Amino acid sequence: CRKPRASLPPPGALPQSAAGKMAARWALGAGGSWARGLLSWARPERWLPSCSLFPLSCIHTSTSLQKTGKWEKKNRVVYPPQLPGEPRRPAVIYHCRRDIKYSKDKMWYLAKLIKGMTIDQALAQLEFSDKKGAKVIKEVLLEAQDLAVRKHNVEFKSNLHIAESLTGRGRYVKHIRYHAKGMFAFMKINRCHYFVKLMEGPPPPPEPPRTGFDQAKEYVQQLRNRTLVHTL
Ligand SMILES: *[C@@H]1O[C@H](CO)[C@@H](O)[C@H](O)[C@H]1NC(C)=O
Repeated sequence: CRKPRASLPPPGALPQSAAGKMAARWALGAGGSWARGLLSWARPERWLPSCSLFPLSCIHTSTSLQKTGKWEKKNRVVYPPQLPGEPRRPAVIYHCRRDIKYSKDKMWYLAKLIKGMTIDQALAQLEFSDKKGAKVIKEVLLEAQDLAVRKHNVEFKSNLHIAESLTGRGRYVKHIRYHAKGMFAFMKINRCHYFVKLMEGPPPPPEPPRTGFDQAKEYVQQLRNRTLVHTL
């Protein structure tokens, strides 16, 4: 792969010398066929694609290039070893994607939709959603699932549920929108973050709905819990 490059002179030198020779030939009036042949031989297309100067694997395209924020750092928590009788601690995976070109408010509906579902259910729901964010969230979930199996010692990849699913506001960029007669306005380019926390095991059962009576009872209890000082 390297050979054709090594045999060539430095890339800047060749076209110049070829052009110089061509000019000399034309000055002599002997025709530039030889020079043209040299030029066609030196065409960069001949040796560039055959030799992978910039293989894609050299360029980071994975999510590891993203900055490490607070959310991803939660993966680094190390717990003390468990005692023999203790139940197994479920695996917890934090994953996110930052600066998605989508509105955080539109993303919110999708994030709330899948919260508390098993991962298979969530993937099925997102599969049939027409929104742009659904595709992104699905990718993030699949990444997180892969991480769970590879790095977090999860045995069955379907044995996960979505414990948290949040959106955040990304960096906004202002652009000028030109109007007539020298007027202008600002446009905002919205970006959002998506955060997900996967947990091993089936999702917990939904809480029973709270009635007004329950809330009233709690309120009265709160009032009774008060300590009134300097009174009888
Ligand atoms: C009231 O106090 C009890 C016992 O200290 C506590 O369990 C309960 O949560 C408190 N209730 C409220 C509403 O603060």
